[in-house]
Amino acid sequence: MTDSPLRAPAVDPQTLARLAGGLAHELKNPLSTINLHLALLEEDWQEEDGVKPRRTVKTVRILKEEVQRLNGILEDFLRFARTDRLELQATTLQEQVEQVVLFAAPEAERLGIRIQTYLDLEMPPLQLDVGRFRQALLNLIINARQAMEGRGHGTITIMTQRQGDQALVEVLDDGPGMTADTLQQCLQVYYTTKKEGSGLGLATVRRIVEAHEGHLEVESSPGNGTRMRLFFPLKTTELADG
Ligand SMILES: Nc1ncnc2c1ncn2[C@@H]1O[C@H](COP(=O)(O)OP(=O)(O)O)[C@@H](O)[C@H]1O
Ligand SMILES: [Mg+2]
Repeated sequence: MTDSPLRAPAVDPQTLARLAGGLAHELKNPLSTINLHLALLEEDWQEEDGVKPRRTVKTVRILKEEVQRLNGILEDFLRFARTDRLELQATTLQEQVEQVVLFAAPEAERLGIRIQTYLDLEMPPLQLDVGRFRQALLNLIINARQAMEGRGHGTITIMTQRQGDQALVEVLDDGPGMTADTLQQCLQVYYTTKKEGSGLGLATVRRIVEAHEGHLEVESSPGNGTRMRLFFPLKTTELADG
């Protein structure tokens, strides 16, 4: 049987991802123009007294918030859908974890959440795309923080450890943990239990780790907190070192 000319040609996933990424990127420009003009509109109407101007300002603010929300959705999507190559460099997990913690600690502390680290100082350097690794770790810290915020206390523990030819980064929290149902679905794209969640955080972490030829393991149960384990191969650097 020959192919029917009516059947649409298959688009491979790579092409589709590039297409979607391109679309998301294109949408960001007009959105930023809309945002700018809404800001100008707000400024104009703010100077006026009266019921109508006040109502207009309120409407414009709602529009601005929605534009920002759209922008956030696109950015989350672009972070997930990135198809460009990793920019690998030799670095230590210790250094990268310290940088991310430095960045994330103030906001956590504000919510009564402590971030403690146990870093293996003997770990050899490895090849990482530093930007993406930090993104992954930050996503995990944000999830842990969100799981515990509102409670006013909590601890996030970040540990690094060599395990044979793999480097392990573990992010542990003593939050509420996940139900069996959530655990099963949490890595899926757009799965979220949060009102304003993107559902792309863990899927992005997984993509980043797997792009490094590593893997991600999740352990969680209600009342027992959550343990995220990122494994990265150490081999690349050691081979390169001869
Ligand atoms: N540390 C954690 N503690 C409890 N639940 C978590 C944790 N991390 C992730 N989850 C669950 O996994 C879901 C998916 O997480 P994620 O992919 O980051 O999307 P989002 O954070 O936008 O919801 C969350 O909505 C939450 O239910
Ligand atoms: Mg998240």
